[in-house]
Amino acid sequence: HKDLLDVSQLSLEEVTHLLDTAEQFHEINQRPVKKVPTLKGKSVVLFFAEPSTRTKTSFDVAGKRLSADTFSLSSSSSSLTKGESLKDTALTLEAMNPDVIVLRHKANGASQFIAERLDCAVVNAGDGCHAHPTQALLDNFTLRRAWNNEYKGKTILILGDVKHSRVARSNINLLTRQGVKVRLCAPRTLLPHTVHTWPVEVFHDLNKAVEGVDAVMCLRLQLERQQAGLLPDLNEYARMYCLTSKHMDMAVEGAKILHPGPMNRGLEIASDLADCNESRVLNQVSAGVATRMAILYLHATRKDKGA
Ligand code: CP
Repeated sequence: HKDLLDVSQLSLEEVTHLLDTAEQFHEINQRPVKKVPTLKGKSVVLFFAEPSTRTKTSFDVAGKRLSADTFSLSSSSSSLTKGESLKDTALTLEAMNPDVIVLRHKANGASQFIAERLDCAVVNAGDGCHAHPTQALLDNFTLRRAWNNEYKGKTILILGDVKHSRVARSNINLLTRQGVKVRLCAPRTLLPHTVHTWPVEVFHDLNKAVEGVDAVMCLRLQLERQQAGLLPDLNEYARMYCLTSKHMDMAVEGAKILHPGPMNRGLEIASDLADCNESRVLNQVSAGVATRMAILYLHATRKDKGA
């Protein structure tokens, strides 16, 4: 594929190949000297029109570890603030002849919009509430390690603000295809209207939802995307939906806890749980560097291989 817009475009064989490649880069990332010359002479533009800590930094680290040149553009420091369109901004960046443009944008479909107009590879680093494929792939890398490469028959609970979550949507697509049973737990106001058409089991009671699960993925309450008047009472939300060790006692022993970050400690996840032995939150960050190295490698070298 020229672009990575969502996980739905990848076959399970392609996912396995990408994660196997990420494993090799993960091993390199543990060495004292982490830089390899693999992408020397290639260039990657990081165009983040929405805030990011993990995704932007890990793409930057990933590119530099592979010896690619990386260039950053944010919306506040770009001519988007002067009214330049997304299309003109993307065409301007492409005129500098990069190999990959990584885009984060608040609009659903923004990456696809520019991918259809550019010859260089476009990687979606999160578009609105629609998709976050690189997050789902790094989560999959983390779960694959936790579950000894066995997805089929496992159960994962995705907990919290599903309605606004591109992370949930991409994970559900990939995990259900891999034979993982996906449960969602949220108040009705934080689930999309179409949830009954999704291949998931829906719960509103966290005590029931967590029973016997092999992993829990907590989601951030996306306060910045809440519609006016629909903001939940935060104390009540925390009382009903904040994951605590009491809940984890009902999960399978050793069940892992994931959170894509950034975390609202005490709101969607108890602070002690975020730091406990079964938490994989920081493993997800390391997995993010390795997975994004694999993504940049596969997309920046696509033309060289005649793909
Ligand atoms: N998980 C994630 O996308 O985090 P950032 O918004 O910090 O990139």
